[in-house]
Amino acid sequence: MKTIKDLKIKNKRVFLRCDFNVPIKNGRITDTTRIENAIPTIKAILSEKPKQIILASHLGRPKGYDEKLSLGIVAKKLSEIMHKEIYLHPLIEAPIEVNIDIVMLENLRFFEGEKKGSIAFAKQLAQHVDVYVDDAFGTAHRKDASVYALAKLLPNAVGLLIQKELENVHLNHPKPIVAIFGAAKIHDKLPLFKKLLDKVDKLILGGGVVFTFLKAGGIEVGKSLVEEEMVETAKQLLKKYSSKIVFPVDFVGTTPAKLKKLDSLSTLEKKQSIRTVSVENISKSIACYDVGPKTVKLFSAVINSSKTVVWNGPLGMFEVKPFDKSTKQLANYISKHNKKCIVCGGDTVASTSGVLKSGKLVHISTGGGASLELLAGNKLPAVEVLK
Ligand code: 3PG
Repeated sequence: MKTIKDLKIKNKRVFLRCDFNVPIKNGRITDTTRIENAIPTIKAILSEKPKQIILASHLGRPKGYDEKLSLGIVAKKLSEIMHKEIYLHPLIEAPIEVNIDIVMLENLRFFEGEKKGSIAFAKQLAQHVDVYVDDAFGTAHRKDASVYALAKLLPNAVGLLIQKELENVHLNHPKPIVAIFGAAKIHDKLPLFKKLLDKVDKLILGGGVVFTFLKAGGIEVGKSLVEEEMVETAKQLLKKYSSKIVFPVDFVGTTPAKLKKLDSLSTLEKKQSIRTVSVENISKSIACYDVGPKTVKLFSAVINSSKTVVWNGPLGMFEVKPFDKSTKQLANYISKHNKKCIVCGGDTVASTSGVLKSGKLVHISTGGGASLELLAGNKLPAVEVLK
């Protein structure tokens, strides 16, 4: 693959595909990791004196125009961080006539050609630019027009973020390798989950998926999240992989009704409502939202005997306190014991990044689905097209 250094950028208009699909709550960006990670490539391109950088991304999964998913909020945040003016260009078909270094196109998924991988739409995008740089690692498992068809139309190169991700997100790290798998649901990840299980030495199970497996093993899970249609599949997986999967031994939970009004409860009421139970004692009335303290100890011991940790998905419902506790505690353990750790995906990053900082031993990946595909040994179409 060509890199930015191999492209002729001087006085050229550069299309830079990023993944600015950031979490937004109440009109605010709650995690800016993906925006910050785009900056080294933007700066590297600017240092080559281009005529203009045209940034492009999707945000969410809109069906047509949706004001709430405008990339204006991202343009504003990036402009604040970089102390540079950024112009949001709303109409893909209209020429870009502003004389500003950085322009951002409006959410590409407002246009149906993007998701369809349309060549006609890619050609519309291509009219604005001379060269193409892809740095949207989080979208590299897709074949959307801007990450696939467009790359074929222009001289292209890979950005610094994708380069860094490819160097880190794989399973050729020192063994034994432990994967932490904490997805909410398993059905859409099943093939990847199996491949991952085949490749790692141990797999720690957390998040919502645990309860489908426990139910498959005949354990009462109360009102915890279960994918009924996956129970049979979970039974098969248990037969094949029982020696590899490490299950929680206790949980923290409450009744679904109490969960809804948790914020309005006093500290004492909260204490009385939230219970820690061992896996054999989950009552019919409660739902478990996090793993318990004994599980954190057990998982820590498993991590201690590994050389590399690959983490995909938080252990509990981290958005609601105190169900963020085990994820933070385990992240703390990893950080304190200097374990090599690859943290994958938006939720995993959001739930652990305060504790696990990117550095020599920790790689914070901006890709959820994309990193899981890579770890499972699959190719990423948007990377292959650049080769
Ligand atoms: C992600 O957040 O995983 C990427 O931005 C891809 O988004 P998508 O799953 O909507 O294609």
